[in-house]
Amino acid sequence: MSRYVFDSSAVQAPDRFTALETCYDPVSRLRIAQTGLGAGWHCLEVGGGGGSLGTWLADVVGPLGQVLLTDLVPQPRGPQDERTNLTVVQHDIVSDDLPQNAFDLVHARLVLLHLPQRRQVLDRLVAALRPGGWLVLEEFDCGWLPVLTAPHPGAAELFEKVHTHLMRLLSEAGADPLWGRRVYGAMSQAGLTDLSSSTHAQAWAGGGAGIRLHRVNTEQVEDRLLAGGVAAAELRDFWSLLDEPGFAVNSYPLVTVRGRRPHQRDD
Ligand SMILES: C[S@@+](CC[C@H](N)C(=O)[O-])C[C@H]1O[C@@H](n2cnc3c(N)ncnc32)[C@H](O)[C@@H]1O
Repeated sequence: MSRYVFDSSAVQAPDRFTALETCYDPVSRLRIAQTGLGAGWHCLEVGGGGGSLGTWLADVVGPLGQVLLTDLVPQPRGPQDERTNLTVVQHDIVSDDLPQNAFDLVHARLVLLHLPQRRQVLDRLVAALRPGGWLVLEEFDCGWLPVLTAPHPGAAELFEKVHTHLMRLLSEAGADPLWGRRVYGAMSQAGLTDLSSSTHAQAWAGGGAGIRLHRVNTEQVEDRLLAGGVAAAELRDFWSLLDEPGFAVNSYPLVTVRGRRPHQRDD
């Protein structure tokens, strides 16, 4: 059973997906395109969340290609997101059947970080690739979030206190907040070749689209933060801080690692 903290059936989920897609889709599209993604490719988008990358992949691979988007909790989609070559399914990447030797590209963003079984899931994703196919994993390294500017004394400490409690909740549920820095090594150990990695981070200013992720995430686990030692007044002040233009914090660094399943000898 998954112990994913940020249940995607919660009322906060759409806002989480909007923040992630606004901040990180341009980076993800660029990195995925560097695999050579093109017409006719068969793609698997794991834990596709709000679905924007699934739709984009479907448009890039065109009518001869196929995209399978999976999620534990697929999100409702409007007609503007429908594509004849895009299939969306409810699927647990930890335990449900997965086609083998089937995909030219497997992509997952911010999914394995949350899964205690991330190493086994990585092996499953490699097995799902055709020989020569690409795995692109994108994960946060939550260990480098310096406060860049603060509007008053104590603001940086408050941010760090609440964020530390949030990370503790994730770790207790089996997430690895530092998974981003381990992905390259894990993909190497999984036998992938042609590995490359790059990391994206930017400033998130108060009131902006990115910093909203902190609001959504802490709102969703408010009860557990309060039970774990954050005072109600501290949480209120934290949320106010996130709206202040005079506050800025580093975004979560998104580590993108790309690697290829080796060709068989007679390929
Ligand atoms: C942090 S969100 C990221 C969503 C999307 N990939 C993005 O980056 O915008 C994690 C997603 O993984 C999904 N998820 C969590 N556990 C999963 C599992 N065991 N199998 C499939 N999807 C899962 C969640 O429902 C959620 O949509």
